[in-house]
Amino acid sequence: MKESTDRHPFLEGLSSHRGASPTVIVIFGASGDLTARKLMPALYNLGVDNLLPADFFFIGYGRSELADDAFRYSMLEAVEKFSRRPLDQNLWENLSKGIGFHAGGYDDTESFVRLRGTIEEIEKSIGRDLQVVFYISTPPSAFSSILTNLGTSGLAQRRTGTKLASKVVIEKPFGHDLVSARELNDVICQNFAENQVFRIDHYLGKETVQSLLVQRFANSIFEPIWNRRYIECIQITVSESIGVGSRAGYYDQSGALRDMIQNHVMQLLALTAMEPPVSLDPEAIRDEKVKVLKAIQPLCMEAETSDVIRGRYVEGLVDGEKAIGYLEEDGVPEKSTTETFVGLRLSINNWRWKGVPFYLRSGKRMARRASEIAVQFKCPPGILFSEKDKFDVGPNVMVLRIQPDEGLALVLNSKVPGLETRTQPVKMNFGYSTTFGSNTPEAYERLILDAMVGDGTLFIRGDETEASWKLFTPILDEWTKSDQVPEDYLSGSWGPEAADALLKQNGHEWRIAGSG
Ligand code: BG6
Repeated sequence: MKESTDRHPFLEGLSSHRGASPTVIVIFGASGDLTARKLMPALYNLGVDNLLPADFFFIGYGRSELADDAFRYSMLEAVEKFSRRPLDQNLWENLSKGIGFHAGGYDDTESFVRLRGTIEEIEKSIGRDLQVVFYISTPPSAFSSILTNLGTSGLAQRRTGTKLASKVVIEKPFGHDLVSARELNDVICQNFAENQVFRIDHYLGKETVQSLLVQRFANSIFEPIWNRRYIECIQITVSESIGVGSRAGYYDQSGALRDMIQNHVMQLLALTAMEPPVSLDPEAIRDEKVKVLKAIQPLCMEAETSDVIRGRYVEGLVDGEKAIGYLEEDGVPEKSTTETFVGLRLSINNWRWKGVPFYLRSGKRMARRASEIAVQFKCPPGILFSEKDKFDVGPNVMVLRIQPDEGLALVLNSKVPGLETRTQPVKMNFGYSTTFGSNTPEAYERLILDAMVGDGTLFIRGDETEASWKLFTPILDEWTKSDQVPEDYLSGSWGPEAADALLKQNGHEWRIAGSG
C-alpha cells in the first residue's frame, strides 16, 4: 500500500471533541458488500464531518489479490453509489491517499505478520504511533482464525506507551447458538481484553434507538408509569417488506430468529425494559441490559400455550406488486424449513414487569417496512365513557417509531368537536425530520466513531449475547429436532394467523405497525 505522509487538509481544525487518536482501520472482508454499502460510506461521511483523526489510514484485507489503486477505485464507486452525501472530490483525494489493500488468507499467520510490518512502516513514515481498529466483516467461519491470528502475530496486544492500542469490531452473526457464542467469546478472551472488543448490532447505532435512552431517562413523566401498574403490554415490531433477495445462502442457515430477533429485537427490548442505569457509563448501561435479559422466563413451546410462532412467506402482493414465496426464491433449498417470521410472547420476571406481556415480531415480506416499540397503557376504570356504542375510546399508546418516519406518537382519547359528547382516539406526533431535518448520520458512522474513541455503550458485551442465546437455543434445538414446517403467511400480510391468535389468548391484538 502507498503510505501517506500528508495530513489531510480537510481534517485541519477538525472538531475532534470525540478524541480518536491517530488510527488505522483494517477491514477484513473488505471486498464484501458491507464494506461497499455501509463501511466505506460511513468512513467518508465521518471525513465530511471532520470526525476522523488527522492521521487516518484504511487498509482493506481480503483473500484475492488486488492492487491498491483498484481497491481505492472500488471504494470511490462505493462512496458515489451509497454515501448519504455527494462526493466531494478534494475530500476524496485526501482521504484516498491513506487507503490501501493487503491480500492474505484469514488463517495465514504469515500474512498477519506482514500486516503488522505494514502498519509499523506507516507509523515510521508519519513519526507517530497509531491505534489499530480491526473490523471483522467476513463470513462467520473466518472469525476464529482472524481473532487467533491477531493474537499470534502480536497485533491484538499492540501498545502505545502503556496503553493497549488495538481494538476489534465484530460483525454479526455472533454465533449461531449458545455453545458457538461461548466458543467465540472464549477465542476473543484469549486474545483481547473485553474493553478492546466491540460486538456490532447496527440497530444500536440508529438515532431513534439511542434516543430511547433519552426519552426514558431525560423525561420525568415516563418513569413513574413505566411498570406493571400502568402498562398493559408492550409490542415490538421489526417488519420488512423485502424478501431474502440474493442472500438465501446465508438466510436459509439463519432464519428470522437468529437474523433479527436474537440480536436487534432483543436489544430494543433490553433498552425498553431495563432498570435506570446509575450513570451513562457503558458498563452501567450494559449491566442493566444483561440483568433484564436474564430475568426473561424460558419460553413455552407446548402446542396449545406456545409462546413462539414461526412463519414463512408464500406468494402474495407487496405494495401492489406480486412477490414470490420463500421456497421459490433463488438458492432456497426445496425442503427448507427455515422461518422468515417469528412472533413471541415474553414474560419478564422482575418487580417492574411481572405480568406484563412483551410481544415481539419480525419478518420479511410483510405488509410494510416498520420498526416500532408500542407501549400500551392500561385502560381507565370503566366508569365514564364506557358505553361502547356511544364512545370510541381506545387504550393510550406510546409509539416509538424507529424507522421509517422516525419519531414518537402518543395516542390519547379526545372529544370530537360538536354539540354532543362523542369521543375518538387522536395522535400527538413528534417527527425527527420535521424538528431536526433529515439526513441524520447512518448507524455505522456512529458505531465506527465510537469504536475508534473506545466507547462501548452501543456495542454488545459478551455476557449480553450469551444471555440472549440462552433464551433462544432451546427453541432452535426444538425446531431442528421436530423438523416442523413454519406456518404460511401471504407476502404483504402481517404474518401468520397464529401470531394474531397468540395475542388474542391474552385479550390483546397487534397494532398496525407504521400507522403512527
Ligand atoms: C440485518 C439482517 O442484520 O438487518 C437483514 O441480516 C435485515 O436480514 C437487516 O434486512 C435490517 O436492517 P435495517 O437497518 O434495514 O432495518
